[in-house]
Amino acid sequence: MSVIALANQKGGVAKTTSTLSLGAAWAEMGDRVLLVDCDPQAALTYSMGVDPEDLDVSLHDVLVGRAGIADVLWEAHGCHIAPATIDLAGSEVFLLTKTGREFVLGRALTKVAEAYDVVIIDCPPSLGILTINALTAADEVIIPLQCESLSQRGMSHLLETIEDVRQFTNPQLSIRGVIATMFDPRTKHTREILSNVTDSYGLKVLEPPVRKSIRFAEAPAAGETIFQRAPSVPGADAYRQIARELRDWAPEPAPPPAAGAEGAGTSEPRNDPPEAVRSPTEAGPAHEASAATPDMPQPPPERSVGVRTIPIDTEPL
Ligand SMILES: Nc1ncnc2c1ncn2[C@@H]1O[C@H](COP(=O)(O)OP(=O)(O)OP(=O)(O)O)[C@@H](O)[C@H]1O
Ligand SMILES: [Mg+2]
Repeated sequence: MSVIALANQKGGVAKTTSTLSLGAAWAEMGDRVLLVDCDPQAALTYSMGVDPEDLDVSLHDVLVGRAGIADVLWEAHGCHIAPATIDLAGSEVFLLTKTGREFVLGRALTKVAEAYDVVIIDCPPSLGILTINALTAADEVIIPLQCESLSQRGMSHLLETIEDVRQFTNPQLSIRGVIATMFDPRTKHTREILSNVTDSYGLKVLEPPVRKSIRFAEAPAAGETIFQRAPSVPGADAYRQIARELRDWAPEPAPPPAAGAEGAGTSEPRNDPPEAVRSPTEAGPAHEASAATPDMPQPPPERSVGVRTIPIDTEPL
């Protein structure tokens, strides 16, 4: 299981949109995906078609020790989601007084580690204890960055926080790169911002940039991913390409097996987990929220919410 946190304390830079789009793109490739909504605003939960107000358990219960992560799962768009509610704001307060508070999410995730190929955590727009938990649980952090002036304000602070996490709670954490969001190829300025990110902070910009499209704003209101709403917009393809690159990237390629060696060429393919791997269903009662993709482990129809039909004029969260 690889754990990726999408973090940037700046609001509205497409952390949630990127989490959902990458997750859906990964699921399309046949991987078992868990999305974790670590933001009390619960925009990811809402975008997955799950109404936070209808939930009796959520990630908050996991963080305060009342539930396991497998007890709070829902399924939509081929991904499982550990949903958030506004209660999550209370988790921050609860955790502040606890020893080992930075490790709570990471510990919870280890219990379902074998059930997923990738876990993507949507962070809130702050560098508080929820984001620190996400960074402590993660193998990699990706920074969504809106391609507009002043978008890099706060970048140093974010990088310092990541460095602190490396030093104190998660030495393995690496910065995978920046996703350039809401990119407008017509302006020279946006390209300048990206080269500045590379030059000033030494960060890799994951290619291609995600172009601006109104379809991204429309999709969650319709309970759809960008791939369902507008599969042909360049931004949709960008998320697919980035997901593919992230997935195929191997930090240390294994050396080719010696000719004739026992087991040569029989290493487990990534999409074919060992039989002992349990689905989150078996790990605990997951809920069913929508038609799952054929590749996802299927939770039993214990409780079906159906994907919520959200009126188009619903106020954004
Ligand atoms: N490529 C894009 N083109 C146009 N609009 C986009 C694009 N990506 C995201 N948006 C829109 O930008 C707004 C902010 O996106 P999103 O909610 O994903 O940001 P965020 O970083 O998660 O915000 P917050 O910090 O509040 O959690 C949303 O209305 C979303 O639909
Ligand atoms: Mg968000």
